[in-house]
Amino acid sequence: MRKRRLVFALLLCFSTFWRIGAFKFHRAQKTERISGSAGDVLEDDPVGRLKVFVYELPSKYNKKILLKDPRCLTHMFAAEIFMHRFLLSSPVRTLNPDEADWFYTPVYATCDLTPNGLPLPFKSPRMMRSAIQLISSNWPYWNATEGADHFFIVPHDFAACFHYLEEKAIERGILPLLQRATLVQTFGQRNHVCLKDGSIIIPPYAPPQKMQAHLISPSTPRSIFVYFRGLFYDVGNDPEGGYYARGARASVWENFKDNPLFDISTEHPTTYYEDMQRAIFCLCPLGWAPWSPRLVEAVVFGCIPVIIADDIVLPFADAIPWEDIGIFVAEKDVPKLDTILTSIPIEEILRKQRVLANPSMKQAMLFPHPAQARDAFHQILNGLARKLPHDRSIYLRSGESILNWTAGPVGDLKPW
Ligand SMILES: *[C@@H]1O[C@H](CO)[C@@H](O)[C@H](O)[C@H]1NC(C)=O
Ligand SMILES: *[C@@H]1O[C@H](CO)[C@@H](O)[C@H](O)[C@H]1NC(C)=O
Repeated sequence: MRKRRLVFALLLCFSTFWRIGAFKFHRAQKTERISGSAGDVLEDDPVGRLKVFVYELPSKYNKKILLKDPRCLTHMFAAEIFMHRFLLSSPVRTLNPDEADWFYTPVYATCDLTPNGLPLPFKSPRMMRSAIQLISSNWPYWNATEGADHFFIVPHDFAACFHYLEEKAIERGILPLLQRATLVQTFGQRNHVCLKDGSIIIPPYAPPQKMQAHLISPSTPRSIFVYFRGLFYDVGNDPEGGYYARGARASVWENFKDNPLFDISTEHPTTYYEDMQRAIFCLCPLGWAPWSPRLVEAVVFGCIPVIIADDIVLPFADAIPWEDIGIFVAEKDVPKLDTILTSIPIEEILRKQRVLANPSMKQAMLFPHPAQARDAFHQILNGLARKLPHDRSIYLRSGESILNWTAGPVGDLKPW
C-alpha cells in the first residue's frame, strides 16, 4: 500500500514538474539547435549535388501492381511507391543517363499483401531479377558497374533478404544480384547479413496527413509517464514465447502491467496519436524486426522514444542525433525500465524534448506528398549525394563480370 502511495506521489510530482517544465519551455526558446554537423546535414539541399536517372519499366513492375491493391499506398512499406513518384518530378532527375550519378529501378516489390494486409516477400526475388535482366539488356549502365551505381528501395522487414522470418532471411542472404547495389531499406541491425555496408536506412512509412490531422496543442501537458500500445506476445507465430521481440515485449508486460507509471496495453484506442502527445516516454521495442512505425510516431509527436532493440541501426543515423533525442535501453535491462526512466534528470528530459521539437527531426521522418524540404525523400538523396563521387574501382573492364546470375535458391531463378 505504502509503495503504491509513493508511486502515486511520484507521478503527481512528475506531472507538476512537467507542467512547470512545459510552461518554461513555452516561454523560452521553443526548439534547440542540434549541435555539431548533424543538424547542418539534415538541412542540406540535395539539388545540384547529384543526378538520378529513373529507368522506364513496363507498368507491370510498378503501377499495375498498385492498381490491383491500393492498400499498398498506406502500408508501412509505401516509401517505395512515393519515392518513385517523388523522383519522377524531382529536379535531381536527369533524362540523360550518360550524366547520371545514380540509377533507380522502380520496382514495387513489397506490394503483395495477404487479405489481412501482411506483406508477402516471396515473389520479390524473381521480380527484382526480372527487372535487372531487363535494364541490363536494354541499357549499358548496369553492365558497366554491375549495379554499383544503382540504388534500390527494399522496405521489407528483412530488406533484400526477402523473407519475413529472420532465420529464413539469414539463410537466404541478400539477393545475389543486388550485392553491388546501394540498398535503401528500413531494416537496420548491426552485424546482420541482411544489412551490408553502405545501405541507407530509412524510416517506415507513416501516413503524414493522418498524423497531421491528430495534432493537439503543443502546450498540452504531458501527464502520461510511459506509453505503449501494441503486442506483447505473438501467440499465433510464437506459441512458446521468447522468439517474438526476443522476449523484450513480454518482459515489459510482465514487469510493468500493474505499475501506474506505465500506460501500456494491447488495445489501440482512437486517441492513440493524441495520447502520444500527452506522454513523456514512448516505448519503441523491437517486434519481429528491430524497427516499427512507433519510432516515427514518437518523433513526430515529440514523445521521447525509448528504444529497446539491441544493435538497431536507426534511420539516417549519420544525420539525426538519435542519442540526443531518445533513450536506449538494452533488452536485458527491461526489468529495470522503471528505475532507468525515473532516474533521468528533468533537465535532460527537457533538453531531449527541445531537440525533438526541432522541425527538421520530424520532417526527416516523413514522406509527405507533395514532398517538402528536409523530408525523408531529401534525406535519402542527401545520403546518396554523400557517397559521391563514385570510386573509380566500381567500373568494370569491358567483358568483366563479378555477379553470379545463377547463385541463390533455385526457386528464385524461375521467370517472373
Ligand atoms: C550485359 O551483359 C549481359 C551478360 O553478359 C548481356 O547478355 C547483355 O547483352 C549485356 N547488355 C548490353 C546492353 O550489352
Ligand atoms: C554460380 O552459382 C552457382 C550456384 O551456386 C554455382 O554452381 C556456380 O559454380 C557459380 N558460378 C561461378 C562462376 O562461380
